Amino acid sequence: MIFSKWCRDRPCGLTESNIGMFLWSFSCLQDLSHAWMLLDVCRETGVMLDGVSLSGLAFSCRQRALYLDEVYVLNTYLSHGAMVPVVANLSAMIMAENGNAEDAFNLLHALGNRGLFNEVSEQIWKATVGKMHRFIIRKHLDIKTGENYAKELTLLSEVMCNAKRGNVESICTAIENYGSQDLPATKHWLKVAGGTKAEVLTAAVHIAPEDGVALEIGTYCGYSAARIAAVKLSRCSSSNRTPCVITLEVDLAHAAIARNVLAYAGLAHVVEVVVGHSEDTLPWLVSQLSIKFRRMPISFLFLDQRGSRYEADVATLEESGLLGTNGIIVADNVLKPGAPLFLWKLAHNPDFTTKVVSVTEFAMSGVEDWMIISMYHPLRWKSEQHSPPEEARKLEWEAERMRSRAHQPDHGGRGIDFLDWADFSTRMRAGFQRMNLGSLTWEIAIAELETRRSEALLAELGSPPVNITDGHV
Ligand SMILES: C[S@@+](CC[C@H](N)C(=O)[O-])C[C@H]1O[C@@H](n2cnc3c(N)ncnc32)[C@H](O)[C@@H]1O
Repeated sequence: MIFSKWCRDRPCGLTESNIGMFLWSFSCLQDLSHAWMLLDVCRETGVMLDGVSLSGLAFSCRQRALYLDEVYVLNTYLSHGAMVPVVANLSAMIMAENGNAEDAFNLLHALGNRGLFNEVSEQIWKATVGKMHRFIIRKHLDIKTGENYAKELTLLSEVMCNAKRGNVESICTAIENYGSQDLPATKHWLKVAGGTKAEVLTAAVHIAPEDGVALEIGTYCGYSAARIAAVKLSRCSSSNRTPCVITLEVDLAHAAIARNVLAYAGLAHVVEVVVGHSEDTLPWLVSQLSIKFRRMPISFLFLDQRGSRYEADVATLEESGLLGTNGIIVADNVLKPGAPLFLWKLAHNPDFTTKVVSVTEFAMSGVEDWMIISMYHPLRWKSEQHSPPEEARKLEWEAERMRSRAHQPDHGGRGIDFLDWADFSTRMRAGFQRMNLGSLTWEIAIAELETRRSEALLAELGSPPVNITDGHV
């Protein structure tokens, strides 16, 4: 009742994101009735909730195996405009995964009757229904200007129009072309680890132990998950094992688009997308890995969420004991917007050997970023932990401020242009130089990384940390 009134009258400027926070809090409770009630009130009063607000409830449904409720959330709150076929495809996938082939068929059939059947629908149809269909295939999505998630929907549309189905390389190229050629004209930027970042990422997957799960935090539209899965697949071609890539995403709409992209790539059986904030999903995932995969270690970890979460998320995995010995960790955006506290702590933790790689930001010529590649080799004796210096805390604050600004363009703000980013990267680099980064000493120039054989990189990461005080960082 109170919420019903709040939502109608919007006292004290109660915004959608405030309501989203309430929904997330209610979704954490054992009894979900308050969450459902609030959701109903939002629907009745026309309050639009975004994918982040809905992800807590979607995760609670998944945890409790309430897949019909998960499909209800998707269809009631996310199925608007160009999202309609995306949500229908995802709903059909969820139905099929839960053994409900009949409803999967009905959903795809209804989509076909509305003239919205696309190549992703066909891919799911083939896997679940098997027999021929009679629907006309729609190549692109009809995206209205200003529609929510227009950028991400256009990415999926570009993939369906320009990439070969089942061909990961061609799908990743279509995404990179969209991000580097079409999008800059609209003053938007695609936050994928493309270009030289993808080279670093794939080189790192190659040196990770073959057995074990690859985990990514920050799926977005599934670009890097597809890249990781392709390397994992190529490495286990001799055996009959299916590799496992798990990727976590806090925005339900991003996750829905990613699942369509991954289905188009033929990777739906390789990559599992888990919706929810890593703070909630990681502890659950740890328990799932222990039960479902009999404590299969995480041999590769890609951190591509908010930099301020890197440290806490790695700590959760370390404590679980699932981070495998000699496992490889890659973190993106370490210089811009930056992860100074994480980098400082990693540099002073003898359980990790870390290298910083200087790269050009994807589709931002002249803007430097850093990625780190780290190998985990836990020592039996834990050394004393020191507190980070004031400089690291100051830089962390700067990074957080920049992250908030960068988040704004899709939410009505001014955003940051490329020159601002270049200037920020230079200032962060100078700040890092003032910090004592201990055993973390040099960066691999990207050209060097390309020509370097993976084994040599592996040998370097596997050797004990060397203390060079006059490094390049
Ligand atoms: C930079 S994008 C990831 C790009 C993607 N890895 C790629 O290269 O294609 C970051 C994504 O992380 C998600 N995210 C941010 N914080 C998160 C968290 N704590 N848990 C899960 N996802 C998160 C955002 O919604 C966004 O989609």
